[in-house]
Amino acid sequence: MKACISGTGSYAPVKILTNADLEQMVATSDEWIRERTGIRERRLAATGEACSDLAVQAGKRALASAGLMATDLDMILVATCTGDYPLPATACLVQHQLGATKAAACDLSAACCGFVYALSIADAYVKSGMQHVLVIGAEVMSAITDWTDRNTCVLFGDGAGAVVVSASDGERGILSTQLRSDGTLCELIMVPGGGSRMPLSEKVVEERLQYIKMKGNETFKVAVRTLEEIARTTLSANNLRVEDVDLYVPHQANIRILKAVIERLGLPVEKVLLNVDRYGNTSAASIPIALDEAVREGRVKAGSLVMLGAFGAGLTWASAVIRW
Ligand code: ACO
Repeated sequence: MKACISGTGSYAPVKILTNADLEQMVATSDEWIRERTGIRERRLAATGEACSDLAVQAGKRALASAGLMATDLDMILVATCTGDYPLPATACLVQHQLGATKAAACDLSAACCGFVYALSIADAYVKSGMQHVLVIGAEVMSAITDWTDRNTCVLFGDGAGAVVVSASDGERGILSTQLRSDGTLCELIMVPGGGSRMPLSEKVVEERLQYIKMKGNETFKVAVRTLEEIARTTLSANNLRVEDVDLYVPHQANIRILKAVIERLGLPVEKVLLNVDRYGNTSAASIPIALDEAVREGRVKAGSLVMLGAFGAGLTWASAVIRW
């Protein structure tokens, strides 16, 4: 028994924030942002639009593409670090909105790796008897972005992507997932305030500690190293070569990180899904948005070998290979 991706969907909020808009907000330039990150614009959730609102839209589209009803779902996993509330889980709000009456629901926190981590959990549950699991990566990064900090605010965007993971007994399916972590690097990317270590207080707000802090330069180097390493490990664990990969769908954080990784791997750029220019870094939503784009553009066909690669806060890094 294998688990396959039977449907994909995504949702991007309507509002577009361009680099020119950011020039009006902080000391930056369109040229700096494009050259250092490859980002031209990103989407922003509307006022009052929360993580579950984005997740529900992506989930509905994934269900429609799989030809399934919400009542067919056994489980809903939402990977996010920007859920509607500290509790309950955003997945429960999605379960209610979709009417997935027999589904279990919970969230998963692994930052930008959240979607691949959740995919591996769905894979394991389907292999052990569940029929259909909805895996969503959804983020409203704008809610934890410090719009006065030029080091971070140019990088992130909002959005949601989803897949349905279903039982399959044919050739197609998730061949393997690889998950890694290194908590010694937890301070590279963090939101220091608002959790149990430093509960929300006037001091936290004054010092803007409820927002993302990142050591960009160090993160950059670790990202290149871990993405290359996990891609090689995944391929060798499956007796595959780089040449066997039809499409690489990496976490979209920075075009320079991705160019360095694909050069080291020897992957031609035509085999890589790149959309960081239009979305920025949407954390857990990044890979499922890119995967849905690949499917809709016909870049993934029956039999294609697709490799996913992610890294993010934690530090975590992860990969998956899928026979489509
Ligand atoms: N506009 C103009 N100048 C800027 C900006 C900006 N938006 N941001 C920083 N600068 C300046 C810095 O102040 C610095 O100036 P200085 O030399 O006078 O001190 C200069 O630009 C260079 O700064 P660096 O940090 O060295 O720039 P770098 O080339 O490393 O690019 C960046 C910064 C884009 C953040 C890059 O390091 C990066 O992408 N890192 C990885 C981030 C990432 O991928 N995170 C993913 C995880 S996110 C998650 O898990 C939720």
